[in-house]
Amino acid sequence: MNQDQLKLLVGQAACEEVLRLPRGQILGIGTGSTANCFIDALAPYKDHFAGTVSSSNATTGRLLKHGFKVLDPNEVSTLPAYVDGADEIDGSGNMIKGGGGALTREKIIASMAQQFICICDSSKQVKSLGGFALPVEVIPLAKGAVQRELEKLGGTVSLRLAKATREDLDQTPSAPFVTDNGGWILDISGLKITNPLKLESEINQIAGVITVGLFAKEKADILLVSNESGVSRLT
Ligand code: 5RP
Repeated sequence: MNQDQLKLLVGQAACEEVLRLPRGQILGIGTGSTANCFIDALAPYKDHFAGTVSSSNATTGRLLKHGFKVLDPNEVSTLPAYVDGADEIDGSGNMIKGGGGALTREKIIASMAQQFICICDSSKQVKSLGGFALPVEVIPLAKGAVQRELEKLGGTVSLRLAKATREDLDQTPSAPFVTDNGGWILDISGLKITNPLKLESEINQIAGVITVGLFAKEKADILLVSNESGVSRLT
């Protein structure tokens, strides 16, 4: 099976998992290619849920296209579950997220949910976090100041750039990637993360940081992970 097939498999398993929730609940839904597989698998059963809360404009668009009701997080006080992918997950459920740039809304919705159900293929499982560059969303005018602070952590910090089309390349060769919140993203590569909870808190203290893509406080409660032999459920 290739990676796309593994994503489809775990998306279907997540669908079975959330259909065990009582009818009429509101579900938090993440962002990325694995989350998209989950959304597509869940579409025929959308009436099981009173609505969804979405972690990005891209996810909202996909949910609406399938006919799901999408609620503003301000209309919702609690969610039974939030389902999302990850860029890396360790054996304790700590994650790096934000490869797709939706880390801030993902963390907000994860914080509202009783359970974080992480869905991924086994390539995302690691012994310790840091092989994937750690994303940090920042207020654009604080980019320089935050970058200097992040460099003290020992990694290499780079501004994430928008994927440029050929026409863009002629005009704006290095436009920053802009998040749904108007933030920019600094990616820290080469970090060896030994204490995710402490590092998450340290980076959150830097003035100008909106969110760090370390999910240690909001770590996964359930992991559905696919590999060649099927899907395992780890808690
Ligand atoms: C987006 C995310 C995604 O969950 C993460 O990047 C994994 O994406 P994919 O399922 O496409 O591998 O955090 O901000």
